[in-house]
Amino acid sequence: MSKTIVIYKTKYGSAKKYAHWISQSLGADLFDVKDVSVQMLNSYDTIIYGGGLYAGGLLGFSFIKKNYELIKNKNVVVFAVGSSLNPDKTEEEIKNRNLSDEMKEKVKVFFLRGALDYKKMKPFDKFLMFCLKKTIEMKKTEDWDDDTKGIIATYGKSVDFTDEKSINPILQYINSL
Ligand SMILES: Cc1cc2nc3c(=O)[nH]c(=O)nc-3n(C[C@H](O)[C@H](O)[C@H](O)COP(=O)(O)O)c2cc1C
Repeated sequence: MSKTIVIYKTKYGSAKKYAHWISQSLGADLFDVKDVSVQMLNSYDTIIYGGGLYAGGLLGFSFIKKNYELIKNKNVVVFAVGSSLNPDKTEEEIKNRNLSDEMKEKVKVFFLRGALDYKKMKPFDKFLMFCLKKTIEMKKTEDWDDDTKGIIATYGKSVDFTDEKSINPILQYINSL
């Protein structure tokens, strides 16, 4: 029988929440990336990796990237969790920013909407968001894209866009393999 592992890395909990929902729905094993060794991956046919997006980078994904040669004949699926309002553009951006050319051909990438809570945010992340807001505000509002509008609309607030139903396309894809 086909075996699936779901691996995640999270800063504030959204990627873990999605990883939990996905592993439960698929009856797959679930691990934080810090508890996974490359040897463990041998026994799986499908590897699902999920992490939070930070300034375009996928948290903890270097583990998959540096070991890709050893797992490239398996099904590798990625989900990235972020606050962007623009999932189509984001999927393309995630690939361009995080995947090698070989991975772009073979790895399926999904985008899921996460959460932002300025009350719980670490000081450095708060500072980064403050700088981002200031940079955005220097541009004309007519030039703001959906990502930019999303950052401004949620700045300083607590928002949670996580939704169990949004994992359905991932489940359908995995079941079609
Ligand atoms: C400093 C900072 C940078 C972020 N950069 C991005 C980004 O580039 N793209 C995006 O869609 N979301 C971005 N986000 C939003 C996070 O990805 C979102 O909060 C997500 O739910 C985090 O997942 P996690 O809780 O699993 O770490 C950023 C958040 C912070 C605090």
